[in-house]
Amino acid sequence: MKAMIIQGPNLNMLGIRDPRIYGPVKLDTIHENIKKHAEQMGVEVGFFQSNFEGEIVDKIQECLGQYDGIIINPAAYAHTSVAIRDAIAAVNLPTIEVHISNIHAREEFRHKSLTAAACSGVIAGFGPIGYHLALQGLSQILSEIEAIKNARAQAQTQQTQQQN
Ligand code: DQA
Repeated sequence: MKAMIIQGPNLNMLGIRDPRIYGPVKLDTIHENIKKHAEQMGVEVGFFQSNFEGEIVDKIQECLGQYDGIIINPAAYAHTSVAIRDAIAAVNLPTIEVHISNIHAREEFRHKSLTAAACSGVIAGFGPIGYHLALQGLSQILSEIEAIKNARAQAQTQQTQQQN
C-alpha cells in the first residue's frame, strides 16, 4: 500500500504555532514518526506540504495512479475550499481527513469541513497520533476494497465456468 500525506497551510509552522492547541512537535518530526509507523505496517508513504490551495489540488490529482490512498490535513482550507473537496472527489481514492485539534471544540467557523464530505473518514482531536490512526483506517478500507474485488472476480469465474 502507498499513501500520500498532504499537509495544508500553516502546518509547516507546527512547533511554533499555538503550541497549546497543536502541541510542541515540529512537522518534520511528525513526518518521521509517521514514516516509522508506516514502515512497521509495511506501508510506503509520501509527504507534501503547501500553503497554496492550487498546489494542494495539483498534488491530489497527481496521486491518481501513483498512490492507493490519501491522508490529508487541509488545515484552514477544510473550512473554505470547494476546489480541494472537488479534487478529492474527482480522484476517487480512499481519503482520510485529519485534524490535529478537535475542530468541534473550537470556534464555530471550524465546526464545518467542506472537504470532509468527499473523504472516507475524519479523525480530529488526537494530536499528531491522528495521522497514525488514519494510516490504520486507510489500510483497513483498502483491505476491504481488495476483498470485495477478489470476491467479485471469484463470482465472475464461477459464473463463466457454469456457462461453459
Ligand atoms: C487544523 C484545524 C484547522 O481549523 C486549522 O485552520 C488548522 C489546523 C488541525 O489540524 O487541527 O490550520 O486543521
